[in-house]
Amino acid sequence: MKVFISRDIPAQGIDLLRAEGFEVTIWQIDRPMTQPELIENAKQHDALLCVFSDKIDKVFLNECKHLKVIAQLAVGYDNIDIAEATRLRIPIGNTPDVLSESTADVAFLLMLAAARKAFHLHKTIARGEWTFFRPKANLGIELKSKTLGIFGLGRIGMEMAKRCKGAYQMNIIYCNRSRNTAAEDLLQAKKVEFDELLAQSDVLSVHCSLNETTNGIFNKTVFQKMKRSVIFINTARGSIHNEKDLIDALNERVIWGAGLDVTNPEPMRPNNPLLSMENVAVLPHIGSATIEARSAMARLSAENIIKGLRGVRLPNIVNPEIYNR
Ligand code: DGY
Repeated sequence: MKVFISRDIPAQGIDLLRAEGFEVTIWQIDRPMTQPELIENAKQHDALLCVFSDKIDKVFLNECKHLKVIAQLAVGYDNIDIAEATRLRIPIGNTPDVLSESTADVAFLLMLAAARKAFHLHKTIARGEWTFFRPKANLGIELKSKTLGIFGLGRIGMEMAKRCKGAYQMNIIYCNRSRNTAAEDLLQAKKVEFDELLAQSDVLSVHCSLNETTNGIFNKTVFQKMKRSVIFINTARGSIHNEKDLIDALNERVIWGAGLDVTNPEPMRPNNPLLSMENVAVLPHIGSATIEARSAMARLSAENIIKGLRGVRLPNIVNPEIYNR
């Protein structure tokens, strides 16, 4: 059995696949694959291990319907046409749980960095602008007992909420399709409607998946419903906020600050105005970028491939309906 991996990944995953006796090919060029390259390579293999920037759309899936399994090295899978994969009965795997804490750490880091203007102030030192003490300069805001609004309270949102409750005794409110009773019991979190989340949050952190409903949901109208003092955090997917509207909202002081680990487009261009705003902190989509999380993601992806190639249910399956038929 032959496995193709579209980007070099931690050894834990590759070793597992080789130990099973599979022939493993890894894309060696240090740039993302084009879709024709991905199709051409996937055609010669039985399984694909891919990343969130690979376009696994209808075209790809119909060209590669022979694939016995596709394992994505990510928890999110908005780059994959799941309905089409399901129609073609291709099992799709992902890597949940193992990156929840590392991603929540980044959300927390961005919240604090935006609140204290940390990235901006760091740059001022490098520019030789640290001169003398001015009591009214460089003032940030404190987070103690403030209200954290979580948009999408799943595993990552829960970890962010735990951090904010533990560190700053923040009040937790959340907006979700279903109730999260664990968060309600453990953190006294309160489920609210979307408009209430906007009106009450001092920090609003996005942890939902990207789909038709959430695409661009944080736009001009929505920013206008938020507190002027709010910090907006997005560590989920860049398309969930409208970047131009976010820039305008910050420039016009409709909202106070922002922390982004995801942007639209990615990579963000170096001349993006967000990079020179005092109350904004931006990171290059590093939510899961710890040695621990990435190694675990590689292992989970390999386990999904192994099961898929053995014809059994994937341990982390995104489209379980394929097993119902
Ligand atoms: C994910 O897992 O969806 C991250 O965004 C990529 O590591």
